[in-house]
Amino acid sequence: MENARMNPPMRRRTPAALVGAEPGPAHTIDFDGRPVPALPGQSIAAALWADGVLAWRTTRVGGRPRGAFCGIGACFDCLAVVDGRPNQRTCLVPAEPGTVVTTQEGNGRADLAV
Ligand code: FES
Repeated sequence: MENARMNPPMRRRTPAALVGAEPGPAHTIDFDGRPVPALPGQSIAAALWADGVLAWRTTRVGGRPRGAFCGIGACFDCLAVVDGRPNQRTCLVPAEPGTVVTTQEGNGRADLAV
């Protein structure tokens, strides 16, 4: 006799599948000049992660790669330039159709110089 608990069916377990979400059709954002798929309601960080991008910022000292860490807006590791505005926490910014995201190097203030 087959035991269902010992042999669960192989399914892809995604966050959307786990909660039974039925998001609308995907759109794209632009990341460093290439299209990245995003779902309605997804944050930029989530869209980048889902596309396999793990780092989109470098540290001020040492230039070490950083991406999302806390995912709730507390650590500031996920900063990027969004639609020309540096220091945006991508875990809090929705990935809207056509959003342009570029890798941020250091403190991202070079573009703010007057
Ligand atoms: S991942 Fe920590 S602030 Fe965005």
